[in-house]
Amino acid sequence: MKFFIDSAEIEDIREAKSLGIADGVTTNPSLMAKSGRELKDVVSAISREIDGPVFSEVISGDETGILQEGYQMAKWSDQVVIKIPATLAGIKAAHKLEADGIPTGITLIFSPMQALLAAKAGVSYIIPFVGRLDDISSDGMEMVEQVIAIMDNYPDLTCKVLAASVRTPVHILQSALIGVDIVTAPLSVYKQLAAHPLTDAGIHKFLQDWQKVKK
Ligand code: G3P
Repeated sequence: MKFFIDSAEIEDIREAKSLGIADGVTTNPSLMAKSGRELKDVVSAISREIDGPVFSEVISGDETGILQEGYQMAKWSDQVVIKIPATLAGIKAAHKLEADGIPTGITLIFSPMQALLAAKAGVSYIIPFVGRLDDISSDGMEMVEQVIAIMDNYPDLTCKVLAASVRTPVHILQSALIGVDIVTAPLSVYKQLAAHPLTDAGIHKFLQDWQKVKK
């Protein structure tokens, strides 16, 4: 299972590298706006930091605009993956970009049928969102489980399933149990994976026992 970092902050990616978990980086327009930097500068800087894919999301909604942005972004780095929302225009544009050798990821997927349509278009990644479905009292992981079940039924569908809007360690656990290829999450979520009270208690007990012997 690959861990991608959902961030436009270089420091997050450097710390993820120090943990050996920077398999790739996803960004989105909100993260880019938060960074306060130019999209091209951020994507180029991230591409220098890691070897894996760097996802850069288009902002256009029409096929022509998406294609223009996609061809332009692809020039920035050979690691760039063009992230495109799950609309008919987006899927058409992704199909063409893929035919021209430019990898794409269809994002903002909230249903298994959006995922299937994108997968059949030959995209490299399908990106179902978990947390935003949970936010409206739907079961995000159930949707991802259905996507995995569909993909497993049809081996000719070769795209990678990249679970996004991953907000908790349980989302990562569930993704791993159902066989998601990749999760993308903020660094803070990955850092939570190390935490366990019994580990802390065990360290404390070992130190206490050691102190007794050392005196
Ligand atoms: O970047 C795509 C996705 O990971 C966004 O997550 O938490 O804003 O729904 P979130």
